[in-house]
Amino acid sequence: MPYGPQELSKPVTVQTLRKMKADGEKFICVALYDAPMAAMAQRTGVETLLIGDSLGMTVLGYDSTIPVTMEQMIYHVEAVARGNKKSLIMGDLPFMTYATPEQALTNATRIMQAGAHMVKIEGGAWLAPTVKMLTERGIPVCAHLGLTPQSVHKLGGFRVQGRDDERAGEILDDAVQLDEAGADLLVLECVPTELGKRITETVTMPTIGIGAGPHTDAQVLVINDILGLTEKPPKFSKNFLVEAGDIPGALRKYAEDVKGGIFPDADHSFS
Ligand code: KIV
Repeated sequence: MPYGPQELSKPVTVQTLRKMKADGEKFICVALYDAPMAAMAQRTGVETLLIGDSLGMTVLGYDSTIPVTMEQMIYHVEAVARGNKKSLIMGDLPFMTYATPEQALTNATRIMQAGAHMVKIEGGAWLAPTVKMLTERGIPVCAHLGLTPQSVHKLGGFRVQGRDDERAGEILDDAVQLDEAGADLLVLECVPTELGKRITETVTMPTIGIGAGPHTDAQVLVINDILGLTEKPPKFSKNFLVEAGDIPGALRKYAEDVKGGIFPDADHSFS
């Protein structure tokens, strides 16, 4: 029988993902925003889903993630949670809703009550006390380093991070501190392949790359990019629909290529 991701047979947990990292088995994440696509992801074996604040751009027509509100996030987390009972669901905390640990606790509670199993927050070591506070209270946290789109105006644009030694060292140090604070997962966005590898080998939590090379424990892509809906797709993304012919096929092909070590290749990574 040809290899191919199957429907998820039981709910995916943080422990499932840690075991997959330990076993060297890659997992898949898709950023998506609605119930039918979430159901399709469950049927095609996608282990983790992200209701990203990218919905500001992919669904709502904004130029960045900055205008996204808690109410918009909650609306989409609820929709995804209704469509999928097996994948692990992560919800982004949007811009400026976790500037203090107290604010983070209030807003993470709302995202969890909407149906998420984990919240994602963008930023470095300054978030370690927040990660500690949330995780000690039973809220799993996915950290997000490298290109952090909520800081686009501070970073000076959507650009690769960590190409020079100083910034690479900072990102590595942030990753270690967030790991020690108890973060459960780490998204690494737009960093050179070597840095993605080094961080993945250093931290205990599983890493999920997007433009971070092939060595991370998992990969995430935005559904709009997988299905060719994006007008100017980023270098790290790939339209899997062209080859696959239909939407379930595109999700399966993406999963298969990640698990088989075919995606991302050098053309979809940064040096
Ligand atoms: O908002 C989002 O979809 C994300 C992913 C691109 C990682 O943060």
